[in-house]
Amino acid sequence: MVSPKYHVFVCGSSRINGTQMGACLNKKSVALVQKFMQEIEDRDITSDCLVTNTGCFGICDKGPIAVVYPEGVWYGNLDEDKVEEICEKHLEGGVPVEAYRI
Ligand code: FES
Repeated sequence: MVSPKYHVFVCGSSRINGTQMGACLNKKSVALVQKFMQEIEDRDITSDCLVTNTGCFGICDKGPIAVVYPEGVWYGNLDEDKVEEICEKHLEGGVPVEAYRI
């Protein structure tokens, strides 16, 4: 995969020194990375989607955060149910989930 259709960046709360700390990590964002990857695999869209664990986006109070490109859609206050819906409607269906945008 050289250029995926969608690139999902999920906040893993890493600081510049590599230390993981922060709101998203405390709200189980690592599990959300795994949830994105599992949903993408289950939907057989792995060739279209890449998921990357990132550092802090600087809006911790709205975490857990995920940003989906190429549209640049920012999602906040995520949980596993919301990730499932984003995978279904946005990554598979092509329509961002407005209710979870921040
Ligand atoms: S820790 Fe996720 S936005 Fe800051």
